[in-house]
Formats: sequence, structure tokens, C-alpha cells
Amino acid sequence: MNILSPSILAADFWSLGDQIREAQKAGAEYLHIDVMDGLFVPSISFGMPVIASLRGQTDIFFDVHIMIQEPERYAAQFVRCGADMVTFHLEAAAQPAETVRLVRQAGARAGISIKPDTPVEAVEPYLDLVDMVLIMTVEPGFGGQKLIPVCLDKVRRLRGLVRERGLAVDIQVDGGITRDNVREVLAAGANVIVAGSAVFKGNVGENVRELMKALGEGHGA
Ligand code: DX5
Ligand code: ZN
Repeated sequence: MNILSPSILAADFWSLGDQIREAQKAGAEYLHIDVMDGLFVPSISFGMPVIASLRGQTDIFFDVHIMIQEPERYAAQFVRCGADMVTFHLEAAAQPAETVRLVRQAGARAGISIKPDTPVEAVEPYLDLVDMVLIMTVEPGFGGQKLIPVCLDKVRRLRGLVRERGLAVDIQVDGGITRDNVREVLAAGANVIVAGSAVFKGNVGENVRELMKALGEGHGA
């Protein structure tokens, strides 16, 4: 099944609640929440108090992407403030398997993300442990960038590995996905699609419906 995960990084924070409701009403099942620490990536976004506040208002699935150093220090706290899934960066974790264990123990699903320059082989040893692998299709840190096409080769390769091993791991893609390239991204083998600008710039309901249409057309793996 293909899932759309709108990234609130591109939302208008003045009316964040309304925008989330609109996205959910139009069919989005996940909400992608980008946490940036100013160290692992140059930007600082928002953190636990914002997530906890949203959690009090909506039951949508919180797909929390933590772009932070030493993710093991905070993994369980993100679950406690409302994350349903915590995806951390392989490049930032000293002990990825232990970090997955901490997230799971706290009661959430766990994902591992890799940046554009990190090969799929680096995440291969953890495929049996995780619920999802996130292949970044831009350098993490900013919304509104252009998708790096060569990253889709990594999606194809990972889909091949997951299929070969008969695993149920979700493959998420994040960065530069639009209604024009989403079919190509699905065809490469991704099944969880993050979209920030393509959802929150313009008419949110219409944007979600357009993307959901592509997700429902069966271009996926
Ligand atoms: C980038 C974030 C992305 C970003 C996507 O570091 O992880 O989730 O918000 O934004 P768009 O879809 O605008 O590229
Ligand atoms: Zn993200």
C-alpha cells in the first residue's frame, strides 16, 4: 500500500492545525515531522513541545524524521511526546541497532534514513530490524529543493534487496517530490512518499488529492 506523508516543514505555522486537518481530510494518512538540530544539518526546526502539542489535537500517524546527532539520546523522548514512528540517520548514530531497540522499546516503529551520498549497502545490515528505510532524495536540511535523480537508483536497489529477502520493510523517499515526478518515484519502488512544498504550497486539499491519485494508480513496487 502506498502512503502519503505531508511534511509540515513547508506549512504555514500560523495555521498549522487547519492545514493538518485539511491534509488529513483529503486523504493523507501520515504526517511527516522534520526535527533538525543545527548540528547534523545546518537548520534548526522544532522539537518535542511542538510535537506534543499537535499530538493533543490529532490522531494522524506521526512519522517523525530526526535529523539530529546522537539520536539515541532522544529517541525514547520523541516517542513519549507522540511519535508513532521515529526515523533517525544512520550517519548520526554510533550504534544504529541499539537506537532501533530504544525506539521499539518506547513503543513506536523505527526507521533508518540515509543521505544521498550514503550507499544502500550501509543500511543493509539493519534491514531485518527496521520497519522503514528512508532514502533521502535531497541533502537533508531544507525543504523546497530539487530531487536528485540518481537517488532513485538507490530506491530500486533497496526494493530489490527487500524483495529478495522477503521483508516487509517500507521504503520512504523524502525531498523534492512533486505531482510531476511522484509516479517515477513510486515506480522505482518507494511506497511511503514525503512531500512538503508539493502539499503545503498552494491549495492543500487539492495538492493532497492530486498526489493521492498518483499513489492509488498502482505505479508502486
Ligand atoms: C528535508 C526534510 C524534508 C523536507 C521535504 O531535510 O527532511 O522532509 O521537508 O520538503 P520538500 O518536499 O519541499 O522537498
Ligand atoms: Zn524529512
